Amino acid sequence: MFITLEGTEGVGKSSNLAFIQNWLINRGKQLVVTREPGGTPFAEEIRQLLLAPRQEQVSDDAELLLMFAARAQHVAQKIRPALQNGFVVLSDRFVDASYAYQGGGRGISMQRLDALSQWTLQGFLPDLTFLLDMAPADALERAKKRGDLDRFEQEQQAFFERVRNVYLQRAKADPKRIMVINAAQTLEQVQQDIAHVLEQRVPK
Ligand SMILES: Nc1ncnc2c1ncn2[C@@H]1O[C@H](COP(=O)(O)OP(=O)(O)OP(=O)(O)O)[C@@H](O)[C@H]1O
Ligand SMILES: [Mg+2]
Repeated sequence: MFITLEGTEGVGKSSNLAFIQNWLINRGKQLVVTREPGGTPFAEEIRQLLLAPRQEQVSDDAELLLMFAARAQHVAQKIRPALQNGFVVLSDRFVDASYAYQGGGRGISMQRLDALSQWTLQGFLPDLTFLLDMAPADALERAKKRGDLDRFEQEQQAFFERVRNVYLQRAKADPKRIMVINAAQTLEQVQQDIAHVLEQRVPK
């Protein structure tokens, strides 16, 4: 089983990843926990390139292609082998984030996103995705408490509103896979909602 967490910065992906990890371990699952961009040494180097604030303008296409380059490596070297060996894979972000950030945020056409997804994933998608949804500005306030902002976190509010909208559109189009969780609730309430979905969806 392949489970992913999505949402704008500060919605609580990392906090809830830890919760899901514990939930799965308590049920005796063997799991691999990972993240995007990144997840392998090579892909983590691409992550550094993508997230570092810099003077030079990074072109939308360069950003998009590097995201998918990192993903191709991550899927080939880590995710697929782990699934084949019977592990549950839990990832902080995956391809939905490219649709949301490079598609919604940057404005790259969904046809291009589809083409790259088809090329690199050939229809491979998570079995279950938690979309932690809340007003991006409130979420960013949470994230800001952590310190320096990365290249994405420096974007304007309108950018994150577009990101959120694409995430929600994708959830609407694929409601069996993408579970929308109200991330504005207390962490305890969010975790209750997540546990409820896990009870129904994770095979015994
Ligand atoms: N439901 C919640 N209510 C209030 N605070 C929360 C909640 N969930 C997480 N937080 C806090 O918000 C901050 C951001 O949470 P977290 O790092 O889990 O978000 P994230 O989605 O992983 O962020 P990023 O996208 O930047 O990695 C943390 O300080 C965390 O403790
Ligand atoms: Mg995080």
